[in-house]
Amino acid sequence: MQTVANFNFAGKKALVRVDFNVPLNERYEITDDTRIKATIPTIQKILKDGGSVILMSHLGRPKDGPTEKYSLKHLVTPLSIVFGIKVKFAPDCIGEEAAQLASELQAGEILLLENLRFYKEEEKGDEEFAKKLASLGNVWVNDAFGTAHRAHASTAVMGKFLQDRVSGYVMQAEIDNAKKILEFADRPFTAIMGGSKISDKILIIEQLLDKVDNLIIGGGMTYTFSLAEGGKIGKSISEPDKVDLAKSLLEKAKAKGVNLYMPVDNVVADDFSNSANRQTVNRGEIPDGWEGLDIGPKTIELFQKVVSESKTILWNGPMGVFEFPNFAKGTNAIADAVVKATEENGAFSLIGGGDSAAAINNAGYGDRVSYVSTGGGALLEYMEGKVLPGVAALEA
Ligand code: 3PG
Ligand code: MG
Repeated sequence: MQTVANFNFAGKKALVRVDFNVPLNERYEITDDTRIKATIPTIQKILKDGGSVILMSHLGRPKDGPTEKYSLKHLVTPLSIVFGIKVKFAPDCIGEEAAQLASELQAGEILLLENLRFYKEEEKGDEEFAKKLASLGNVWVNDAFGTAHRAHASTAVMGKFLQDRVSGYVMQAEIDNAKKILEFADRPFTAIMGGSKISDKILIIEQLLDKVDNLIIGGGMTYTFSLAEGGKIGKSISEPDKVDLAKSLLEKAKAKGVNLYMPVDNVVADDFSNSANRQTVNRGEIPDGWEGLDIGPKTIELFQKVVSESKTILWNGPMGVFEFPNFAKGTNAIADAVVKATEENGAFSLIGGGDSAAAINNAGYGDRVSYVSTGGGALLEYMEGKVLPGVAALEA
């Protein structure tokens, strides 16, 4: 596979697929720029070699073509600041204007194309569309690990219309770090799984049961496990149709000798809001009309102890509704413990993307763990053992 490190971009126009699907607030300001900052080394290398960069990304899931909310024009100024040069913008990712801007692009310059998903052809993996994109430059660089689980025109198809297909630094780092966890983990190896749905995490949990010593489960999905044990969960989020699945997972963990840890207490609320009334109750004893929104203090102590004794830590998914400061304590406490294990015991810690990356960054700990993944679904699918189309296209 060709990599950014060993490819000379002098005189080349590199079409770089990045995952700039970043969260924006109502003023279109970026609230977490992890994915953007991660691409700096790839882009700098190309520019330094004497190449130019054409950035391609999606933003959100636009349904009906161009939509203000999903326009990548909102990223032009922040990108210019991050890369230290004025980034040019093509208000349509294909067509005459894009072709003109691309052909005029000089070595050392960056051009950003408008949201690829304004064309339905992108998600369909349409060959004609991919060919049009490919015609704008002469090297395909895929650095969009976060979108590598999609077989879209820009992530998997356009490479075939260009002779040179190059894997970016983000792509490489993501795969190296995931492999470190899956194949070379120092023990004890602890996986911390959070989030609200068992159905989202079941495949990865099953894979991890063959690899980990400890499995900590927190977050909304634990209420389904409570149901499976006949506990009372009030109006907490749950998947009643996944109760059997929860039971079989408990049995599998036992059969494989994995130490399974679940909350022993919860902070519950009488409303889904930051200002709701709160109380702490034992697991499985949530009163009617109340819902669990965080793990409780005894759980924090239990989970922190397990984390502190670990040499490898994989964390994916928050412990509660961390977007509400009053219910972020559990998630922040786990972040604390992961940082401590990393800094004081030399543990290797990998934070899965999406919510967990946002949580670790919210806590101000982004650079105090071993690696924060830029992938959400992509990381999960990679760890589930699936072939990612974006990676396969580079290897082809
Ligand atoms: C993500 O954030 O999950 C990636 O950018 C992929 O986006 P998608 O889930 O809308 O395909
Ligand atoms: Mg996704």
